[in-house]
Amino acid sequence: MKQQINLKVNGIEHQVETDTRRTLLEVIREHIGLMGTKKGCDEGDCGACTVLLDGKPVNSCLVLAVEAQGKAITTIEGLSVSGKLDPIQVAFVANGAFQCGFCTPGIVMAAKGLLNEKPHPTEDEAKRAIAGNLCRCTGYLRFVEGIIKASQVGG
Ligand code: FES
Ligand code: FES
Repeated sequence: MKQQINLKVNGIEHQVETDTRRTLLEVIREHIGLMGTKKGCDEGDCGACTVLLDGKPVNSCLVLAVEAQGKAITTIEGLSVSGKLDPIQVAFVANGAFQCGFCTPGIVMAAKGLLNEKPHPTEDEAKRAIAGNLCRCTGYLRFVEGIIKASQVGG
């Protein structure tokens, strides 16, 4: 069944007519055209599709788009402000915390969700925050170091 839904993505309101069974991931990519959120497993296993809903990380392949109405949705495209990268992006770049980059948007969003909740996480908390995000290229260490580095920006 098709329905018109209203989604606020990166601060911008979008009206989308879509099947009520479509996931937030599908609507973000196919209707709104933001391709930074990646589609990996489409089953909640890889974390590549991580976005923030009201500041908290979720696998957007497991959330129906209709369920995200009334919530603030943040994708990787919404992290930089006026072209200025978010501190977590700066830290990951400085740390060389990516190789092929497929997992990177999801890991950045998971890390951002942690820093929203805990501005100064421990190493264990950083590891736990990205435990649901699969990366087949790196050893995860640079992500963890990047999260700790970003948490130290501005004290
Ligand atoms: S695409 Fe959503 S968890 Fe893998
Ligand atoms: S950098 Fe390639 S999957 Fe993570």
